[in-house]
Amino acid sequence: MDSQKNFILKTVSEKNENQGYLLENDICITPDPSAPITRRGVLMSFLSGKIVEIPDEDLLGRCRFVSEFEKLNRIGEGTYGIVYRAKDTKNDIIVALKKVRMEHEKDGFPISGLREISILLTCRHENIVQLNEVVVGRSLESIFLVMEYCEQDLASLLDNMQQPFTESQVKCIMLQVLNGLQYLHKHYIIHRDLKVSNLLMTDKGCVKIADFGLARTFSIPGKNMTPKVVTLWYRAPEILFGSRTHTTAIDMWAVGCILGELLSHRPLLPGRTEVHQIELIIDLLGTPSKEIWPEFPTLPALKNFVLKKQPYNKIKSRFPWLTVAGLRLLNFLFMYDPMKRATAEECLKSTYFKEPPLPCDPELMPTFPQHRNLKMGLKQNNNASLTLGGSNPPPPPPSISKSDGLEETIPVSELLTSLTKKARHE
Ligand SMILES: Nc1ncnc2c1ncn2[C@@H]1O[C@H](COP(=O)(O)OP(=O)(O)OP(=O)(O)O)[C@@H](O)[C@H]1O
Ligand SMILES: [Mg+2]
Repeated sequence: MDSQKNFILKTVSEKNENQGYLLENDICITPDPSAPITRRGVLMSFLSGKIVEIPDEDLLGRCRFVSEFEKLNRIGEGTYGIVYRAKDTKNDIIVALKKVRMEHEKDGFPISGLREISILLTCRHENIVQLNEVVVGRSLESIFLVMEYCEQDLASLLDNMQQPFTESQVKCIMLQVLNGLQYLHKHYIIHRDLKVSNLLMTDKGCVKIADFGLARTFSIPGKNMTPKVVTLWYRAPEILFGSRTHTTAIDMWAVGCILGELLSHRPLLPGRTEVHQIELIIDLLGTPSKEIWPEFPTLPALKNFVLKKQPYNKIKSRFPWLTVAGLRLLNFLFMYDPMKRATAEECLKSTYFKEPPLPCDPELMPTFPQHRNLKMGLKQNNNASLTLGGSNPPPPPPSISKSDGLEETIPVSELLTSLTKKARHE
């Protein structure tokens, strides 16, 4: 059993048809999980073309066991994994351990986990979360990503901070996000799930893009891709209207939503459904047309919606205090036509980041209490070592009870705030 898991994680250098393995960005997966596991493996040298047999003792990879980490507390949980703060007992370094969620998988290792591992292994940039290694538990289901630990994620921070970020802090955050994105896009990677809960921040003010469960490498010309990516509030109009070719522009739309959210201290386009999301976009930017977006009439899902007529761009009235350069940047990020939308490189050159208030130095960003550890962590499993099987159960689904503070008499404004907090993380 163990051998199959380790083998799955084995990196190989080329497709090996004879042994029936498929490659997903250098990660080897067996096409039929019930097929017997073949233990032979070879590598081909790119220099000489020589085939070298992998020694038996190296064939299964050399992942460490998760028992070498001391679990401190749970810091996050999302669609694809549970994340713990933990200590590496070898060197006492605090890390984040993300357990790959296998619950719904009948067909072997989940593709989201594979993509996350393979993409993160190829990335090295200060604004992209660092994957140090992959460790395993005893059962086939327990596989963990060991990542550098970041004290905050922007969603929890926005939910809990006493005072909103200043404009110069917003610029500092955005510049770092844009630097990370520029790196990704230059390396043909689209993140496809940018949102505040996937942006982490260290106590030194360094912002890191995380959560690569939906990320993909792309080629030019593009291939067809899954339509339902990107959390609704940050989803670009071309995806909402069913475009199957995803470009880096979908990340740039999400950047516009994040910039708007940081500047206005609330989510910019918090749609409840796809129809509502499109309504909110049109309310803010006006109805799209063939004139400004030539591909628009051909988009497959357009027929599912009746678009209301709204001729005005209302960004200026939504951000009346923003400078001309700031408004120009937001409008550039919210171009309906993905071909005309700002790239990360163009944003980095924007006058907005060069005019007062100037972006603050990351080192000068304030530090914040670690709410995630205070709230979730200290109550549970303190100092418990991770079991070898990694059998920690997921938390129960959120239920609305009195102890959640959602009693009948709660004022609507508070209810909205609390729902916003929940939705930001979804
Ligand atoms: N390296 C890290 N350091 C600190 N916290 C982290 C780290 N990685 C993830 N987290 C926390 O765990 C949360 C969930 O992680 P992540 O987004 O990677 O998982 P996910 O299951 O893909 O999430 P979702 O489906 O909600 O987007 C993050 O929002 C963040 O709060
Ligand atoms: Mg996430």
